[in-house]
Amino acid sequence: MSSRRPAKPVHRIFLLLVAAIGLLLALPATAADPIVLRFSHVVAPDTPKGKGAEKFRELAEKATGGRVVVEVRPNSGLYSDKDELEALQLGAVEMLAPSLAKFAPLGLQEFEIFDLPFAFPTSTALRRVTEGPLGRRLLGRLGDRGIVGLAFWDNGFKLMSADRPLRRPADFAGLRMRIQPSRVLEGQMRALGAVPQAIAFSETRSALEAGLVDGTENTPSNMATQRMDEVQRFATLSRHGYLGYAVIVNRAFWEALPSDLRAALTDAMREATTYANSIAEAENDAALAAMRAAGHTVFLELSPEERAAWIAALAPVREEAARRLGPGLLADLARATAE
Ligand code: LMR
Repeated sequence: MSSRRPAKPVHRIFLLLVAAIGLLLALPATAADPIVLRFSHVVAPDTPKGKGAEKFRELAEKATGGRVVVEVRPNSGLYSDKDELEALQLGAVEMLAPSLAKFAPLGLQEFEIFDLPFAFPTSTALRRVTEGPLGRRLLGRLGDRGIVGLAFWDNGFKLMSADRPLRRPADFAGLRMRIQPSRVLEGQMRALGAVPQAIAFSETRSALEAGLVDGTENTPSNMATQRMDEVQRFATLSRHGYLGYAVIVNRAFWEALPSDLRAALTDAMREATTYANSIAEAENDAALAAMRAAGHTVFLELSPEERAAWIAALAPVREEAARRLGPGLLADLARATAE
């Protein structure tokens, strides 16, 4: 797996140009013109993140009386996950909600704790991390990267899909598995005997269809809305890992807002967060039901013994993460998630 490389010079010049034009478009030409806040994301509108973004748009425009116009750009239509963080830092887009697996290339490997296999026994344990001191500390780390972290949004727990049934760790031998660009996810696939390949979300379905990779992991809502079930014959409902988001905003844009607008947007984000996190589980259940009904993929459950074998095979991933991310961080995670 390759982590994201710095943009090539031509690419960087292009992003800078887009940023300059974007800034001109976002800034009001006269005091009466609305401020434009572009919220770019990579998934379909009909997902937990897509619906959360749309809810934020409604609430933000209402709370600011139209002085802020939110343009939601779904489906990697503005930036793919390879480019979006750099675009945000350059001011070419104002708001994003990247998956927590995508922050390490900013030098923030700590976010990879969310990728650890079997780290969150329940949603309550997860919530204690995202809404507790550890979550606040992680969001705070974004500040010196020119970013303000506003909230954590759920998607849900992941399944593993492939063109063969995945019941035991040995079933992964030699499979090329698409991952997000996270060293923890890379270690997870290697520990299972698979070959991890980091691929942009927007390219994943076509990579599966073309046979460039054999399988992947994702949430039911992402699998269904990308129609990945049409190109994956089996999926194991392993709930082995979590996929969630940090909603982030360009710091210069945020700090330049008049304080009443910033307060209104903060309230809108709080309400949108409650909404997004309240629908995520039901959205994933509905996506799973729709894929079952479509009948392309056979969905498997792990027996308690099979699950124990996955947990044992994946134990070294946590040990490696403790060495790399620091035992203190892993101890904080263990404390926050202890039942
Ligand atoms: C992925 O790349 O699989 C996810 O991060 C996509 C998303 O934003 O949910």
